[in-house]
Order: sequence, then C-alpha cells, then structure tokens
Amino acid sequence: MSRRGLLAGGAATAAGAFARHETSPPTHAERARVEPFHGPHQAGVATPPQVHAVFVGFDLREGIGGEAVVRLMHLLTDDAARLTQGRPALADTEPELAANPAGLTVTFGFGEGLFEAAKVDSPIRPLPAFETDKLDKRWSGGDLLVQVCADDGLTVAHAVRMLVKDARSFARVRWTQRGFRGGTKGPTQRNLMGQVDGTVNPTDLDQAVWIDADGMRGGTTMVLRRIRMHLETWDAADRVAREFTIGRRLDTGAPLTGRAERDDPDFERKNHLGFPVISEYAHIRRAHVTDPAQRILRRPYNYDEGLTEDGESDSGLLFASFQADIARQFVPIQRRLAEGDLLNEWVTAIGSAVFAIPPGCAPGGWIGEGLLG
Ligand code: HEM
Repeated sequence: MSRRGLLAGGAATAAGAFARHETSPPTHAERARVEPFHGPHQAGVATPPQVHAVFVGFDLREGIGGEAVVRLMHLLTDDAARLTQGRPALADTEPELAANPAGLTVTFGFGEGLFEAAKVDSPIRPLPAFETDKLDKRWSGGDLLVQVCADDGLTVAHAVRMLVKDARSFARVRWTQRGFRGGTKGPTQRNLMGQVDGTVNPTDLDQAVWIDADGMRGGTTMVLRRIRMHLETWDAADRVAREFTIGRRLDTGAPLTGRAERDDPDFERKNHLGFPVISEYAHIRRAHVTDPAQRILRRPYNYDEGLTEDGESDSGLLFASFQADIARQFVPIQRRLAEGDLLNEWVTAIGSAVFAIPPGCAPGGWIGEGLLG
C-alpha cells in the first residue's frame, strides 16, 4: 500500500476507533445489559459505576406520614424493579424508552426527615460542620434519595422522569444533581482536574460497607458531597505542584513513590533533602486509612454545569461514598482533610447530604420493608 493509502487507512482506523469508543451510541449488547434488582443489597453500590448518574433529593410533602411513605416505597420499588429489567413502569407514558436498560440501577436512600415522618428511630445522624465547607441549601439535605445510573443518558432520563412522576403526590424534588464518568467504565475514571480517581477502595465490602444489624442488615449509608473545583486557579498550578498536591502522578495515577497505579504508596520515603516524597499534606496521605475495614467505598461522578454568572466553571465532583458507619469511617477522613489537605486550595464542598441505604428486597418485597414495615 502507498504511504498515502497507509496514512489514510491509519487515520480512518484511528478515527473509527475513536468514534466507537467516545461518541458512538452504546452497542446492542451494552444497551441490553441488565443489572439484577432483587437481592440482599440494593444495586448501585457495589455495581461498577456506569457512565451516567442522576441523584435526586426529595422532601416529603406536608402531612406525609409512615403509611404514605410505605405506599410511596411500594410504588417506587415496583417502578425500579421493572425499569432496571428493561420493562416499562406501570402506566409508562413512553414505554419504548424502557427497552434499553443499559445497566440501569436505581438505589434508594432515606434521610433523617423520612424516619422522623415515619416515627421510626433514624440509623443516621447529620455530619458535623467542617471548617472548609461552604454549603448551599440548594444542594444539601433531603428526606429521600434516588440514585439512578446507567450507561445510556436517555435510559437515565426516562427512569428519573417515571420515578419523579410517581413520587410527585408524596414528595417534591429538592435538588437534582447530574454526573458523568469518563475515561473508562469501572472504578478508575479521570476527574475534571485530570487525575485518575478511584484507585484505592475497599475490597471486602462485608467488612467496610454492608451493615450487619437488624433492620439495616445488607444495607449501608451514603454521603453525597457536591465539591466544586476551582479550575481557573488549578490552571495556574504546574504539573509538579498538581502531582505534589495529590501524591500521585497525573499520567499513570501511580503514587509518587511507585511506578504503577496499583503500587502501594511509600509514605516513609524521603527525597535527597530529607523531606517526604509524598507530602505530609498530600491528599492521599491525609485521606489514607490503614485498616481495610475502615475504608470508604468511593463511587464519585463528575459534574459540569457550564459557567457560573461570573464566568467561572461550574464543575466539580459529586463525591458519593458508601460505608457501614459514617461516624467511624467517613467523618475522621473528612476531618483530616478539613484540617490540612493541599487540595483544599482548589476544591470546596458546596453541598452535603447523608442517607441510610436500606437493604435490597426479594421479588414481591419493597425497599425499606425491614425499617418501616
Ligand atoms: C484518593 C481526588 C475528595 C477520600 C484520591 C485520589 C484522587 C482524589 C485523585 C487518588 C487516587 C485514588 O485512590 O482514587 C479527590 C478530589 C476530591 C476528593 C478531586 C474533591 C473534589 C475526597 C473526599 C474524601 C476523599 C471528600 C473523603 C472525605 C479519599 C480517599 C482516598 C482518596 C479515602 C484514598 C486514599 C488512600 O490512598 O488510601 N482522591 N478526592 N477524597 N480520596 Fe479523594
């Protein structure tokens, strides 16, 4: 083949590969992928993160008590059980849009307000205040959480619409937060600061994530933080400063003391001047937890809402973490980060909410039955 032909062929192949990977709609097999709905745990926690996510926070309407919440959860469980399996919800107005489940998961969470309304003791408490937070009510709190994830944006939009419609007479939407993941499917994505994000996560979820106590057995808790990234000032930091901030390399995600993403960081190693290679205030040192049972399962999504009114990027991370015990696992990490993390120069938490994630249910059951039934 001529040089020209080769080049043209190469370009076409590269373009084809790029198009397949980045822009083409999901293949038939991807669209048809079904995540089981029923089981001891709700899907959407241990499920490898799908590409798209919408988190919806609801407030119960005035006068909605325990009985009504039970009816609401019957209804929403039924919707979720159908939609995740590629079947339309009852009275689905666009049944065709249910045909591509694309790995759809629907995960429900209960806020403190829901337990109050149902007159049931709440298994979760609000987070303490952290000095670095600048929380906006617009992105905080909520009685009921619905997390909807799938590899197809249309599938997510349809599921959210059906669930919101069925919840409408019981609850009003307090906030909606849309997220996406890029790079690769699965646990290690890149965030909008360019970092490989999601490397260190617990492997034994029975120890770190699933609760083993009556009512919540098989359930967990979720912390959802909307963390704004100040990308304009991040632009001013050079590569060395960026890597120093996290303690990992930007290209491979490897710790500054290692070669590959999965290498263990060596927090003891010193440079020729006698300073730690991974700074005392590097994000991974401050966030590090030695006991695997105390780790949190991070399942974050990026958000990008374009520009704010003053022309700055309205982007960041929808930081979602799952852990058996918020006070024991999440709070100490967040405290250490608030007290001293180089990353704080470029990120600010502007939203915060905590939820109990009830266990899953068997066919015919409903989410929350062990707590509210
Ligand atoms: C690790 C980014 C917020 C907890 C990491 C890593 C990056 C990162 C790039 C290294 C790779 C990895 O293990 O995933 C960010 C960004 C944040 C943020 C950009 C905010 C916008 C948080 C928050 C927490 C947290 C709020 C918890 C309160 C952790 C933990 C690790 C980690 C536990 C693993 C540490 C270890 O190596 O043991 N983060 N993070 N991060 N982050 Fe964050």
